[in-house]
Amino acid sequence: MKITVVGTGYVGLVSGACFAEVGIQVVCVDVDQKKIDGLKNGIMPIYEPGLEEIVKRNYAQGRLAFSTNLGEAIQGSEVAFIAVGTPPGEDGSADLKYVLAVADEIGQHLSDYMVVATKSTVPVGTGEKVRNTLQQALEKRGADLPFAVASNPEFLKEGAAVEDFMKPDRIVIGVDEARAEEIMKRLYKPFQLNGDRIIFMDIPSAEMTKYAANAMLATKISFMNDIANLCERVGANAKMVRRGIGTDPRIGNKFIYPGVGYGGSCFPKDVKAIIRTARQFGYELKVLQAVEEVNEFQKQVMVEKVKQHYGKDLSGKTFAVWGLAFKPNTDDMREAPATVIIEQLLALGAQVRAYDPVAMKEAQHLYLGDTVTYAKDAYDACVDADALLLVTEWHEFRIPSWEVLGKLLKDKVVFDGRNIYDREYLKGLGFEHYGIGV
Ligand code: UDX
Repeated sequence: MKITVVGTGYVGLVSGACFAEVGIQVVCVDVDQKKIDGLKNGIMPIYEPGLEEIVKRNYAQGRLAFSTNLGEAIQGSEVAFIAVGTPPGEDGSADLKYVLAVADEIGQHLSDYMVVATKSTVPVGTGEKVRNTLQQALEKRGADLPFAVASNPEFLKEGAAVEDFMKPDRIVIGVDEARAEEIMKRLYKPFQLNGDRIIFMDIPSAEMTKYAANAMLATKISFMNDIANLCERVGANAKMVRRGIGTDPRIGNKFIYPGVGYGGSCFPKDVKAIIRTARQFGYELKVLQAVEEVNEFQKQVMVEKVKQHYGKDLSGKTFAVWGLAFKPNTDDMREAPATVIIEQLLALGAQVRAYDPVAMKEAQHLYLGDTVTYAKDAYDACVDADALLLVTEWHEFRIPSWEVLGKLLKDKVVFDGRNIYDREYLKGLGFEHYGIGV
């Protein structure tokens, strides 16, 4: 079986490599020649645990190829996945220009029946637009070829993307004809050895499933952040409350960790996009509007605590910031709360010494420039710093040497944005601890 994956970003590259890993012939296509050349030489455009190994192995064994030539790649492919970016436009809606450009190009080169499946997160109704665009491209060249459109949203989490792809909870596929369903079933068979994990449905429902899933998860986080903020005010402990409610299987213990707000490439963008879609249909998604509002508020909470401790004017103060990426195990800085927190600290006159195990290059290059000092390691960030702010809960920050930190920091104060430290323990060591909802 041969397939093409268009777009070598997160979703495209992980999917392509994982399909190759189970024996499928995969061509990954991108317009970016540098990226394609890099991949051929084993240079990964993103950091994702386990990815480099499977990309290199499958490339070496000839199951995975990289190309900039879409027309050539799709020849003989039974499926073409569209996994290109859908950046938010100015009004918050997903910009489909890249998705539709791919559909058009496929139409220009199609020579046999093929399933064209969108993997990018796209608004409800995109399947139809892909179909129309492709059909028009075929008509333009006077070709009358059958093809199918499908929606196959991706649920992988950054930092665990390969594992999520190889062992999915579920595979959602929207199709509207039996032939396409059979092909998709065959393609995904290797990933569901432990039972039937594919849920077939109509195309709009598959498109909607992706938004509903991300919106639900974002809701859980904002809900818990809201409750945590109240816990602080009434003298309750959000850690206890989380454990108390999480044991109810109807609620579940995942995604109810209060923190500095959600970030990343999906939740902020998808919540905005679905609110926008609803508006286009004359409906207001009130819960999700509040989810967004709480998340914006939550990014300010850490700095509010700093102000509470040091006062509004932070000039002359230096803060060590541990963790820049929007979550651990990734170098992704998109919508990372750390950016907002650092910008606020700087605006109040403070200086920042930042450290992140992998995201510093990305942060410097695209977000923070030289407005902060990038430290060599976690301890180096604390040299001459007044206090420590933990923003992203990387493993290596979990059990630091408090003895060393006590000597490095001017004040023994920790602002713990992820509640990973034990307040009582730190108190015993003479540290003051600020958490979220505790
Ligand atoms: C998410 C979805 O999990 C995935 O299924 C979807 O396909 C893409 O979006 P991802 O963006 O990689 O994946 O990150 P995720 O691990 O879900 O975390 C999102 C954000 O929520 C992070 O900023 C994280 O720190 C935050 N979060 C998560 C919390 O603040 N509290 C929690 O309890 C869980």
